[in-house]
Amino acid sequence: MVPVKLAFPVAADRVQPIIRVHGVGKTFGRSPDAVEALRDVSFDVDEGEFVSLVGPSGCGKSTMLRILAGIIDWDRGEVLVRGEDPRATRLPVGMVFQAPVLLPWRTVLQNILLPLEMAGINHRAHEGRARELVAWVGLAGFEGKRPYELSGGMEQRVALCRALVNDPVLLLADEPFGALDAMTRDRLNLELQRIWMATRKTVVFVTHSIQEAVFLGDRVAVMTGRPGRVFAVVNVGLSRPRELAIQDGREFGRYAAEVRVALEAACAG
Ligand SMILES: Nc1ncnc2c1ncn2[C@@H]1O[C@H](COP(=O)(O)OP(=O)(O)OP(=O)(O)O)[C@@H](O)[C@H]1O
Ligand SMILES: [Mg+2]
Repeated sequence: MVPVKLAFPVAADRVQPIIRVHGVGKTFGRSPDAVEALRDVSFDVDEGEFVSLVGPSGCGKSTMLRILAGIIDWDRGEVLVRGEDPRATRLPVGMVFQAPVLLPWRTVLQNILLPLEMAGINHRAHEGRARELVAWVGLAGFEGKRPYELSGGMEQRVALCRALVNDPVLLLADEPFGALDAMTRDRLNLELQRIWMATRKTVVFVTHSIQEAVFLGDRVAVMTGRPGRVFAVVNVGLSRPRELAIQDGREFGRYAAEVRVALEAACAG
């Protein structure tokens, strides 16, 4: 039998990672206007894990998510999603972009069902699920509205439903709750945790909020300023399910402080 050669050594006690990123570099444009967004980025994400990604503005977080979603190319290094090139994989991946990018002429429900339509799936059979998602994000009654009739935060919630409608194995979320008021954000954080615990999707979640990163994450990856690389990874040992009040506790405070210190060091270095 020919031995299977893995691109990376895997420690025996670890679950097989769903995402492997090794030595990745990405530069936009050409000299003299080139912008080096990512340099030597390495990290992995295990199946079913929730990883938060924090870093200063412009450090390449959205770029990294777009690479993982197979939307854009990278220049150097290796990116594998379940062992495959993300540009070629048929794995269902859900992506919430930083801006909601809804189609203005389509209703809320039609926007949510779009990925299924594009994949040639009978989307009518999934309308029930789409309606459930709408209710989950607190938008019941808005199914027939068009994007111009929604607030920015409501549009972003629709985008989250759209990312979840095909029951993705991997959810890539780019600051999905950044535009929401604090109470709605808290509620959706709790709900996202509940969905994640029930389905064990793998999630990579970009946020500017250290609180949110620690509250949701099994691990928090901290990136440096541009060109971004993963500077530190903080393991969050808080038990689940996590209640909102956990954020007032000393243990939570310690993890948040650890991330903050890593972020300061990452930005200083
Ligand atoms: N399509 C593109 N063409 C040219 N440059 C780009 C493109 N996308 C991103 N960049 C550049 O790459 C760098 C990283 O951008 P990116 O959007 O990934 O940052 P970010 O970490 O998501 O920032 P923020 O926290 O503000 O969302 C920035 O300097 C940006 O100008
Ligand atoms: Mg971004």
